[in-house]
Amino acid sequence: MANLPTIRWGIITTGLISSWFVDDLVLDRPDAKVKHIIQSIGTSNLEKGRKFVEQHCPNQNPQIYDSYDQVYNDAEVDIVYIGTPHAYHCRDSMQAIAAGKNVLCEKAFAMNAKQAREVFEAAKKKNVYVAEAMWLRHRPLYRKLQELLHQDKVIGDVTRVFADFASEIDISSLPPTSRYRDLALGAGSLLDIGVYPLTWLAVADEKDMEMPRIVASQSHEEGIEVTTSAILQYSSGRMGIASSTTKTKGSPGRIFAVIHGTKGHIEVSGDTPSIPESFTVWARQTDPGSPEKALFDKEQYESKTYEFPKVGRGFVWEADNTALDVLEGRKESSIVPWAMTVHMMEIMDEIRRQGGTVYPGE
Ligand SMILES: NC(=O)c1ccc[n+]([C@@H]2O[C@H](COP(=O)([O-])OP(=O)(O)OC[C@H]3O[C@@H](n4cnc5c(N)ncnc54)[C@H](OP(=O)(O)O)[C@@H]3O)[C@@H](O)[C@H]2O)c1
Repeated sequence: MANLPTIRWGIITTGLISSWFVDDLVLDRPDAKVKHIIQSIGTSNLEKGRKFVEQHCPNQNPQIYDSYDQVYNDAEVDIVYIGTPHAYHCRDSMQAIAAGKNVLCEKAFAMNAKQAREVFEAAKKKNVYVAEAMWLRHRPLYRKLQELLHQDKVIGDVTRVFADFASEIDISSLPPTSRYRDLALGAGSLLDIGVYPLTWLAVADEKDMEMPRIVASQSHEEGIEVTTSAILQYSSGRMGIASSTTKTKGSPGRIFAVIHGTKGHIEVSGDTPSIPESFTVWARQTDPGSPEKALFDKEQYESKTYEFPKVGRGFVWEADNTALDVLEGRKESSIVPWAMTVHMMEIMDEIRRQGGTVYPGE
């Protein structure tokens, strides 16, 4: 650890995701690329801040502030991590940037593409780093899958991808102030979990990020979007099918994404689409003999399963990659560049336009 480069984080909020991220920042790892210091924490409540430190980073000695501003203005902080509800991501990123800070902001990065562009424009002017914390894209599993699809072409050309995220949430039982229930905080399945199936669909993108033709539908309860179904059609003929719902429980340990190609398919599984654990490549072999065999006989395929060990909560790769970006002077993430975040926000904007989901102020 002694010779590793060091980065000092300012953590905004003591909420759930901040606690998971900090757990991983302080994880003792033999292969860590960076030494992560929790320099300061910004919270609405000092007592929450003290408890957070006790539970999640007891061996560090961060400054605890009862405002986010003090973190942005802490000269000892190299990068600010933002873990507020989505509706505040734009506001909080803009304030951190205005104070000259680098920023890693949770997904959904903003409420819409317009806000995302504003944040990137501000970062450009201030010459600071900003990135969306889409941890899935940093995972070795996702990156290996990209390599197999695009460099090795293990299933030929990708023709379609199915992906789903189901997570049962009884919204009516939650207090009106919950981020799952309050529209003003960005409540709705698409921005919260639908962004993952869309990221699985994007594993088939090479570098082009073409805007697909979209057909989408959403349903609402108490004004909150609870189901999203979207079909994405690309000019090559490739199709993507993505869904998200808070009405149905997911199936732990099961397949949540399937990628089909001209020479086989790949099944991706794990407890949730944000925490994938393995994938199996089913590569079609020689001449199947008959159309029936081609359809049904598993022996026509050679299968290989790739397992990826869990490390901490799964944020270590995002943390190291982001820190290295900043320490090496980059202003955009080498894994999630600005254009990628804007592209995903534009897709979600169009799905919401068709689905009839509008947030306050839009
Ligand atoms: N990457 C992932 O896998 C993942 C997983 C879960 C969530 N997220 C994202 O992280 C963000 C936060 O989600 P979360 O589950 O951590 O939420 P959470 O547990 O409710 O925490 C949000 C925190 O934001 C602060 N906050 C400021 N204004 C607030 C307000 N009006 N209402 C509620 N909280 C407010 C509070 O912290 P203080 O009181 O300390 O200021 C609160 O603890 C969301 O955008 C979500 O999409 C990402």
